[in-house]
Formats: sequence, structure tokens, C-alpha cells
Amino acid sequence: MLIFDSGIGGISILENIKKNIPNINYIYLLDNEAFPYGEKRESFIIERSIKIINTIKKLYPITMVIVACNTASTISLDILKKYFDIPIIGVLPLLDETMRITKNSKIGFIATKATVNSSYVQKRISKNIHNKNIKIIATNKLAKIAEKKIRKQFISYIKLRKIFNRWLLLSVQPDTIYLGCTHFSFLKKEIQNIFHKPIIFLDSHKIVVKKIKKYFLNKKNNQNIKKNIFLYSKYDKNINKLLCILKKYEFNSIKKVNLS
Ligand code: DGL
Repeated sequence: MLIFDSGIGGISILENIKKNIPNINYIYLLDNEAFPYGEKRESFIIERSIKIINTIKKLYPITMVIVACNTASTISLDILKKYFDIPIIGVLPLLDETMRITKNSKIGFIATKATVNSSYVQKRISKNIHNKNIKIIATNKLAKIAEKKIRKQFISYIKLRKIFNRWLLLSVQPDTIYLGCTHFSFLKKEIQNIFHKPIIFLDSHKIVVKKIKKYFLNKKNNQNIKKNIFLYSKYDKNINKLLCILKKYEFNSIKKVNLS
């Protein structure tokens, strides 16, 4: 199974997969050369996703792809599914769920600018009759803060508050927040700290596990990859800072892959 994201966001998806399907083997591709996807054009994201899958397919016998990124999924998932003949599972924001859970009818949706602008999200927001109650924040800054946190670097609460200011100033703040970027799962505690009341966080992690389980149900021993491999697309000093958190995910090898 190939799992990819522009950064460490997809690790939160991997964590959930490992917890629920312990015997699975995986290749994690950190496309740090192209981080952040949220600032890229749609055509770039589509071409990049195709390039990633094609490159890894040639190198390893992958039987499934997890696009562990809301930005890449909302923009390219439909195209990838048509383009490739292996199962491709994406991470797509499911806003309807928030409607069922909120108690005060105030919902927050936060994602990268590219995700918010994608036709997938725009269609769902305009279709929703309750859309007045969805407060949206489109930001490319929060994923960068998550990258810092995972490397144990300083996180500025002033910057964090600025991102959420629009919601903090509301007379009735959202009680339910949909995290529309896989990076944001690493910041739940910090986001909760800036609000003065308990927040319910939702994301698409569970549904990804459900889809993988469904696929593997009828296909025993479908895993052709026998070890766990961590790939990154660009070498920089920051990769070393990631190594200690990667231990937990039992990677047998860590290496660079050329995507340019
Ligand atoms: N983790 C990605 C997502 O879920 C986005 C981060 C980025 O901007 O690269 O949207």
C-alpha cells in the first residue's frame, strides 16, 4: 500500500490505519519537495499525484494507494481513479456529519486554500441548506505550524489565534470543527486550548480505515510489499528531525525518491 502526502499530515492517517489494521505493510511518501500543496495550482496537484503513483508503481508492487491529503484528494481523486487500475482511496471532507453532531448549529470547517476552493468542497457547501452555519477558514499557515510541532519546534499561540480569530470573535463560536487537512490532527490540543469551551473535532480518518478493511476483506494476502518503507522527495536538514518520530512507525528503510 502506498500512502502519500506533501508532509507529515498523512502520518495521522497511517497511525489510524496501523491502529486498526495492524498487519498491514506500507510505503509512506513524504512529498516535501512540493510542500505545501495548499499553495499550488490544481493542474500541478493533479500532475504531481499522477507522477507519484506512476513512479512508485514502477519501483514497488503496490496494490492500493491512499491519498492521505485532503488537498490532493479533493482536487485529483476522481481523475486518479480513472487513470489507474488499482484501488485509490482518498481523504475527502464529509461535512454532513458535522450537521448531525453540532449542538449549537455552528460548524467550523478549516482546510487549505486549495481544498476550500476546490469544486468538491464548493459544491458541498452550496448544496447544503444549512450553509449559513458553516464558518470556513482557508489557510495555508496551519499545515506549516503542524510541521513545526512534529519536529518539536516552537509553536506561536499568537499566530495560532490569528488564524482562528474570525471564529474566536463570534458571539456563538462553533462547537464542532471539521479538520479538512490531515496535518491539522496533530494540533487538536493546541486548537482546543485557544477556545474557551470543549470542541468536537471531526475528520475523515475513520472512513479511510473502513474502506481499506472492506477492500482487504475479500482479498487475503494481497500485500506484495513485505516491509515498511519511508520515502521523501527532497533531502533537507528537517528530514533528520523527523527520524525520531518515525521510529514508532517501524520503517525498515528510509530513502529519497526522485520525482522531478
Ligand atoms: N496534508 C495536506 C491536506 O490534507 C495539505 C498540506 C499542504 O498544504 O501541503 O490537505
